[in-house]
Amino acid sequence: MTFRKNQREIIIAGNWKMNTSLAEGRGLALNLSERVKQFPFSTDDSAKVTVVICPPYTHLHFIRAEMMESTIEMGAQNIHWEEKGAYTGEISAPMLTEIGCKWAIVGHSERRQFFGETNESVNLRAAAALKHNLRPIICVGESLSERESGATFDVIGKQLMIGVKGLIEILENKEFTSNPFVIAYEPIWAIGTGKTATPEQAEEVHCFIRNTLSEMTSENIAERTSLLYGGSVNAKNASDLLTMPNVDGALVGGASLDVEQFTEIIRSAFSSY
Ligand code: PGA
Repeated sequence: MTFRKNQREIIIAGNWKMNTSLAEGRGLALNLSERVKQFPFSTDDSAKVTVVICPPYTHLHFIRAEMMESTIEMGAQNIHWEEKGAYTGEISAPMLTEIGCKWAIVGHSERRQFFGETNESVNLRAAAALKHNLRPIICVGESLSERESGATFDVIGKQLMIGVKGLIEILENKEFTSNPFVIAYEPIWAIGTGKTATPEQAEEVHCFIRNTLSEMTSENIAERTSLLYGGSVNAKNASDLLTMPNVDGALVGGASLDVEQFTEIIRSAFSSY
């Protein structure tokens, strides 16, 4: 069975990172929530655009409370794998679902680079998210030196083999149209640098990711998995990236803090299918 691109869920997720005061964050979220009213969001699960924002933890509860009626979904930038316990500084999946979060980014390259995140810990976090009905956005991507030495597919293959291991088993008895977990391809050399992968470079890696997922799970599941691209996505380049057959959305950092740009990226998602 082959899914056409327009049958997959298109996801535009904003990763605010450690930015905005609470007042700024609330203003940004409310402004965005007004703007997205112009778009034809559908309740039909088989073909839809989903918009997610991932503000800092301290903002989630307040923003969610003000956006109960909004189509925008809330996500966290990380989660811990245990439900509770002596893990100073960590936040668990039940804490996030309790305040209305539906998503959690796991394995972002900044977590890998600055906070010792490994493929194994990414896997634990993704599994905990799924067990508690949070949808993980699992990030993978190569560094510049890995790309230049021709190791891109080896690195991403390993990140997937370990990071996604056992996740399908958690979903075994659940019915779904779109795979609850999504993969974000974020080449490290493109994050926050203004250097975007070309649409062809993104498509090449996304095809590799879909094939790897197909080998690890099944073609059916791989075809239902949304693959997001991240790394300097902005209002200008989003449309070219999103029209690629295997680019099913974007994980947006810097441009998600600019309501005009983020709205334009969402517009590109609606016109991409
Ligand atoms: P950027 O960040 O869009 O600012 O490059 C993307 C990300 O880190 O998710």
